[in-house]
Amino acid sequence: MLAGLNGHGLFFGNMKGGVGKSTLCMYTLEMIQKLRPNLDILLIDTDPQGTSSKMMKSILAPEQIRFMPMGDRYDGAIMSTIDGVMKSHLVKDNSLVVVDTAAGKIGNIWQVALLCNTMIVPTSLSWTDMQPTIDYVQEIDARKEDYTSMTPHIIVVPNRTSPNQKDYSLINNAAKSLNVIVAPPVSDFSIVKHSSHDYKGLKDVEKSRFYQEIETLGNFIVSHVLSGELDRIFAE
Ligand SMILES: Nc1ncnc2c1ncn2[C@@H]1O[C@H](COP(=O)(O)OP(=O)(O)O)[C@@H](O)[C@H]1O
Ligand SMILES: [Mg+2]
Repeated sequence: MLAGLNGHGLFFGNMKGGVGKSTLCMYTLEMIQKLRPNLDILLIDTDPQGTSSKMMKSILAPEQIRFMPMGDRYDGAIMSTIDGVMKSHLVKDNSLVVVDTAAGKIGNIWQVALLCNTMIVPTSLSWTDMQPTIDYVQEIDARKEDYTSMTPHIIVVPNRTSPNQKDYSLINNAAKSLNVIVAPPVSDFSIVKHSSHDYKGLKDVEKSRFYQEIETLGNFIVSHVLSGELDRIFAE
């Protein structure tokens, strides 16, 4: 929670594309809504591709979705609009803003991240994803230092792991030297690949192992982010 703002911001980001930012954003958003029905949730999609804002139309009310594309070049107008939309939502009690972003360096969207309590960074366990993820996290850390900001706290989510994966030492070792916590993993499931082109929501994946993993991840986010637990962990 930031000074004067009662709500929480969840920012889905990674320099790397295709790591599951939009997919995890959509499923965890819906799961959090299920777990905390009283939350007032707003989705802001800043990716010009507009994946999550388009697909969540069947799940969220129109006033809960904002498509605010941010290009490569700095656009002060869209930036201050996002800033205003976020702040006017976050002043409300029980509010949550979920931001889905395009791949790329943190760049100017840092201003949006700075309004968020938590950043969710999905990655697979392959080095082609892990290396850019580490670079991204280090860049955020440097920004936080420049701005003397404790937030956004960073949660790395192992995604598309093998359903039989038991050894997480690669990511856990990498995390040791970074200012992050690692969330429960989400496996690679064909049910996800099929449904994410045409998102039909959690009801479409009910009773699957994927649903259970999203439930575990949703509970993890609810317990760590909404309770203020992360503020305590990172203050140590
Ligand atoms: N856990 C998963 N299991 C299987 N496929 C996944 C999983 N997470 C993401 N995908 C697939 O990977 C592709 C990229 O995911 P997406 O969420 O669009 O990534 P990003 O938003 O980071 O670019 C999509 O086709 C999506 O269906
Ligand atoms: Mg995306």
